[in-house]
Amino acid sequence: MDGPENASHPCAMMAQQTGRVLVVEGDAEVQSELEAQLTAIGHMVDTAPDGAEALELVERSMPDVILVELELEGMDGFEFLRQARALLPSASFIAIASSGSTDTAVKALASGADRCLTRPIRPDALALVVERSLDKPIHARDAINARAEAAASFPTTRLDHIVGAHPSMQRLFKRMLQAAKSRSTVLIQGETGTGKELIAKAVHEHSLRSEGPLIRLNCAALSESVLESELFGHEKGAFTGAVTRRSGRFEQADGGTLFLDELSEMPLSVQVKLLRFLQEREFERVGGNETVKVNVRVVAATNRDLRTLVDDGRFREDLYFRLKVVVLDVPPLRARPSDIPLLADYFLRFYSEENGKHVRGFTARAREALLGYPWPGNVRELQHAIEQAVVLCEKELIGSEDLPIQAPDPEVEPLSLLVPGVTLAEVERYTILRTLEAVGGSPTKAAAILGISKRTIQYRLQEWGVTKRNAWPNEK
Ligand SMILES: Nc1ncnc2c1ncn2[C@@H]1O[C@H](COP(=O)(O)OP(=O)(O)OP(=O)(O)O)[C@@H](O)[C@H]1O
Ligand SMILES: [Mg+2]
Repeated sequence: MDGPENASHPCAMMAQQTGRVLVVEGDAEVQSELEAQLTAIGHMVDTAPDGAEALELVERSMPDVILVELELEGMDGFEFLRQARALLPSASFIAIASSGSTDTAVKALASGADRCLTRPIRPDALALVVERSLDKPIHARDAINARAEAAASFPTTRLDHIVGAHPSMQRLFKRMLQAAKSRSTVLIQGETGTGKELIAKAVHEHSLRSEGPLIRLNCAALSESVLESELFGHEKGAFTGAVTRRSGRFEQADGGTLFLDELSEMPLSVQVKLLRFLQEREFERVGGNETVKVNVRVVAATNRDLRTLVDDGRFREDLYFRLKVVVLDVPPLRARPSDIPLLADYFLRFYSEENGKHVRGFTARAREALLGYPWPGNVRELQHAIEQAVVLCEKELIGSEDLPIQAPDPEVEPLSLLVPGVTLAEVERYTILRTLEAVGGSPTKAAAILGISKRTIQYRLQEWGVTKRNAWPNEK
């Protein structure tokens, strides 16, 4: 690596760890000198002469380390630091000051710089500071990748606190992880109690904004005018009672995620303002003219079909199209029957511990009842049913009589097997798991009933990631 051009720099040894560095420097000569020094030790370098161009590069190339001179023309270095840090909190920021004044350094650190260098910059100091600064972004990226990899190493029965082994949930996890890494607006659809809020939190936690705020607002809980000022804030005197200026949820969520729950209930007038934000990333506070720009990813949830609301004139079609780009559909519990025993066990363990009880599991009959019930209130209803059963149960095993659910009408086909509507693979899975449930988890007995080999059952269970321990913890 000791080429003649490298030898011209005193620090021309390859750095131990290298990364992507953005140099924001107005003086062309200084800029190319810094670029040459950093390239010589193995970093990939982008350059920008001013703050505006640099912000675009921050979004586009997501650098690990950003070097910025504080006396930039136009947007100064302090303002750049503030905005760039909100865009990419995982990066390391190094401010370059012309004088060694403590005031400047403190101001730079307060604006978001991690370190400060003073001119003239010695090449060996530059190499060292940039290399040290790589720890933070590499650590952040590794953490995100490790989480994504752990979640993507299917089959798994859980992602964070979200239980879901059914193929439809596995597909949802994968899609959610892909969506989380992008900057797109995400729309989460699903019946009440299916876990939309959990998915929204996971989108935030698996994104590069996970260190930023996650702010939630329920659009159904507020009247039209209150909702608008809650979201966008208001200026002093905007309406009676607006005695001071107040920032809204969008400003509070700067650098993070805004979760708009029950989006279908948002009035049309507020929808217009939301659409403008999604298109232009800016808005005005209620009663104000100043345009506010924030860096916020919107995640919205709804349990109503927005298409139908569009047809009824209650939801804007342009907003609907804007939101439809990345949709996460959370399936109802009855469409993923194999998750019912997993969720039941998960909640049983949780509530047993919380209440200091020693409830170990369910009787075969109780498991049968859980599987046969259509769960109109989805996971929330199941959670409450198990909580109640655990609290009231005085035995080691919860029996079907302890469960606050009505046995389904035997005349009615279980909803999860509505045909057409399910794939043959799902019918196979459902049939095998239900038969196993009924015989207490014994593959030999289930094989005899189903007329297939025990090996086929074992092979399928392995394929689906269902183990005896997580599905039938009580069986020997
Ligand atoms: N897959 C899951 N694993 C574990 N717990 C879950 C799962 N899905 C939902 N829950 C739990 O069920 C309850 C309801 O979930 P959540 O509030 O996310 O539903 P929702 O879809 O937002 O409902 P709603 O439409 O009524 O607002 C919560 O307590 C949540 O923790
Ligand atoms: Mg919800």
